[in-house]
Amino acid sequence: MFLKHLQLIRFKNYESLEIDFAEGIHILTGNNGQGKTNLLDAIYLLCMTKSYFQYSEKNLILFGNDFFRVKGTFIKNNQPMVIDCKYRLHGTKSFVKDDKEVKKYASFIGTLPVVMITPADIQLIEEGSEERRRFLDMSICQVENTYTENLNKYNKLLRQRNSHLKTISNQSGKKDELLEFYDDEMARLSVMILFSRQKFTDEMSGQYKELYGILSSGMERVKMEYRPDCIGDVKEFKEMFTRNLQKDILLERTTHGIHRDDIEFYIEDMPVKRVGSQGQIKSTIFAAKLSQYQWLKKFTSTLPILLLDDIFDKLDHNRVTNLLKIIDSNIYGQIFITDTYKERIRSILPELNKSFKCFTIQQGQIDKYE
Ligand SMILES: Nc1ncnc2c1ncn2[C@@H]1O[C@H](COP(=O)(O)OP(=O)(O)OP(=O)(O)O)[C@@H](O)[C@H]1O
Ligand SMILES: [Mg+2]
Repeated sequence: MFLKHLQLIRFKNYESLEIDFAEGIHILTGNNGQGKTNLLDAIYLLCMTKSYFQYSEKNLILFGNDFFRVKGTFIKNNQPMVIDCKYRLHGTKSFVKDDKEVKKYASFIGTLPVVMITPADIQLIEEGSEERRRFLDMSICQVENTYTENLNKYNKLLRQRNSHLKTISNQSGKKDELLEFYDDEMARLSVMILFSRQKFTDEMSGQYKELYGILSSGMERVKMEYRPDCIGDVKEFKEMFTRNLQKDILLERTTHGIHRDDIEFYIEDMPVKRVGSQGQIKSTIFAAKLSQYQWLKKFTSTLPILLLDDIFDKLDHNRVTNLLKIIDSNIYGQIFITDTYKERIRSILPELNKSFKCFTIQQGQIDKYE
C-alpha cells in the first residue's frame, strides 16, 4: 500500500500543495519550522482520521482561514483509494473514502495502516502511563474495530461512574443499582480490552527484543512488559470494583481498572524511564514502534506507511546505520523520512538498496531534486 498523490489546501503552513509520491523511501529535508512534520501529520490524518498530535481540527487550519482540506490517493492491492478530509471552522469534519462519507471512523481505521515516529514520542517513556496506553490503543484499534468500540464504551462508562461516585459520596455513601450496572458493564468490557492488549504485547515483546538488539548491535539486554492494573475474568473484575469501592467513593473516582494499565521497558533489568540515556530512550521508541509496524503488517496483511520524523537526532552513527539497514529491507513498504540536515542524510543514502527520492521543504512548498 502506498500514497501516490497528496493535496493540501490551507492545512497548517501549507496554503496549497500538490505532490506525487511513489513506492520506496522519500527523504524530506528542510530547516526548522518549514513544514516537514506538518506534511507527515497530513498523511497520518488521512490514515487515522485525525492528527497525530491530538490537535483539535481548528488548529490544523492555516492561520486566518476558515477551512482546510487534505486529499490523498492511495494504491492498495493495485486499486486506487481516494481519501478526502475537509474541515470548516464551526462546522463539522467530513471524511470521505471514494466519494462515500465515512460514518464510523472505528471501522475505517486500519484500512490504511500507518506508524509514525516523532521526537514527541519521548513522552512514551518519560510521561505517565496514559501515553503508553495510547500507544497500545493506537496499535490495536488499527486491527480490531471492536476494540475501539469497546474502549470508547468503557471510557464513557468510566466518566459516568466517576460522576456517580461523586453523587454517592455526597448522599448515601453506599453502592446502588446504577453503580452495580456500571460495574457489570465495565467488567465485561475490561475482559475484552485486557485480552486484546495481552495479545498485542505478547506478539510485540519478542519483536521488540529482536529489533532493539539489531539497533544496538546486541550491546544491551532489554525487555518490554505489559503491566495490567488488574487481570481476571468478568467476576474478578467485578470483585475488584467492589473491593475498591470505599476508596473510590472517598476519592470520587475509579481508582483501579484497565484505565490504569501500563507498559514497562527495561534495559539490563532497570526501567529505561529511570536509567536510559537519550540514545537508549530513542532506541527504545524505535524498537517499540517498529514492532508495532510488524504487528500491524501481520494483522492487516498490508505494508503500513512508515513516517519517520527527525529520526537521526540523538542516535550515534552505528545506530543510524543499523536503523537504516532495518528499514531498507523489503519488510517495509513506503517510508517518509524527514531531517533538517541535508548533508547528513545524503551521506547515508548511498548505503540504501531501496529506491529513494529526495525533496526539500521550504515555507510550505516542496521541491523534488535528484
Ligand atoms: N495552523 C497553522 N497555520 C499556519 N502555520 C502553522 C499552523 N500551525 C503551525 N504552523 C507553522 O508551521 C511551522 C511548523 O511546521 P513543522 O512543525 O512542520 O516544521 P518542521 O519543518 O517539522 O520543523 P522542525 O525541523 O523544527 O521540526 C511553524 O512555522 C508554525 O508556525
Ligand atoms: Mg518537525
